[in-house]
Amino acid sequence: MTPSVSRRHFARLFALGGSAALFADPSWARQAPPAPALAPGGASAGEAFWKSVREQFVMPPDLAVMNAANLCPASRPVAETLTRETRSVDMDPSPNNRARLMPEKEQTRKTLAEFLRVTPDEIIITRNTSESNNLVSNGLDLKAGDEVVVHADNHPSNLTAWQEKAKRFGFSVVTVAQKNPHPGMDYYVDAFAKAITARTKVISFTHLSSTVGDLMPAKALCQLAQERGVFSLLDGAQSFGLLDVNLGEIQPDFYSGSAHKWPCGARECGVLFVNTRAQDKLWPSIYSAYNGAVGFSRKFEGFGQRDEATMIAFREALTFQTKVGRAAIEERSRALTTQLMDGLSKLPGLKMWTSPDPKLRVAVVSFLPGTLDANKLATTLYEKDRVAITTRGGQDRAGIRVSPHFYNSPAEVDRLLAGLARELKA
Ligand SMILES: Cc1ncc(COP(=O)(O)O)c(C=O)c1O
Repeated sequence: MTPSVSRRHFARLFALGGSAALFADPSWARQAPPAPALAPGGASAGEAFWKSVREQFVMPPDLAVMNAANLCPASRPVAETLTRETRSVDMDPSPNNRARLMPEKEQTRKTLAEFLRVTPDEIIITRNTSESNNLVSNGLDLKAGDEVVVHADNHPSNLTAWQEKAKRFGFSVVTVAQKNPHPGMDYYVDAFAKAITARTKVISFTHLSSTVGDLMPAKALCQLAQERGVFSLLDGAQSFGLLDVNLGEIQPDFYSGSAHKWPCGARECGVLFVNTRAQDKLWPSIYSAYNGAVGFSRKFEGFGQRDEATMIAFREALTFQTKVGRAAIEERSRALTTQLMDGLSKLPGLKMWTSPDPKLRVAVVSFLPGTLDANKLATTLYEKDRVAITTRGGQDRAGIRVSPHFYNSPAEVDRLLAGLARELKA
């Protein structure tokens, strides 16, 4: 590496601002002020508490990021844990120092199990939801004559994945169409009940859709699957860390999630829950070393060398959410969304894709911004108003998607609404 390439390389790392960049600058941790304490009294203390929550994040105070459905920031405790643990391994990669990391990984599994209200024996630590979903579609023994029933609104990792594997293994995929606006929970229970036949082996759907934020009847569909003797894969990418998910109650066979979305964890870490009753029907897709120490992870989680620092930081994210209060997080995100929906309903020319009914949506809101170009609008809102949202292209319910989380505030939602009103000339 020439000196100039080396300088460029490090400049890029700093610009990226990821864990590598933090590590490249050993002064980072020393310069960073310690995370301030959460205000006492919890959510019942109102905005003072939520302000102290916001201070746990390093996003500049003037930047409002409402894109949780895509990527959430790690909080300071999470980023600091990641830096500390990464540095520890790089300063001392000896077997002696690394030996302490195995119990740390098992501790993360335990915390994940508590968080989802299941047992550590049923938890696999993966890289993300995509990997978790694919471990299921790769691992079930499906063949010609078998059917898998999927919802059309699934993410590609839970839709394309099934369609491509069907070509290879000979099973068929039956698709339950999505309806807009949300036709209600009963509609989907009925639609899946009709789609399941004697040949069906699996149903697969998304707890909260990433497209327009439709909440699906998770418990009823998993119960239906059990009654009909088929497996259920519940994609939790948009519910894990947002809803106070209780898998003990919902009872899916499989549930998937990512740390870097609503849990505000480290990037490239995720979870796959495999219900005890389904474990002997799911083949591992990867055989290597460093399996987990308990339950199904002993057989299924031999994924080779991993980054334990990320797993420890993931645990810190779950602990942080528990400290803030999981029910409070769900309530806060819902309240901000209600404020947003109310404001949007007063703006002219919008075509809403998300249900106004709080029983059918949570905190993912999509709409077509009249005749405005969605990409230009998102850029203007980012540059003029310092509000970050995202766009949805294509022909299917295209436009703008906004997903507020517990680090956002009512003032930020108002700022977004004011920016939208200005651009729509309301
Ligand atoms: C519903 C759903 N499933 C799966 C994924 C994939 O998540 P990841 O990229 O973390 O694997 C996403 C990402 O947005 C999603 O929204």
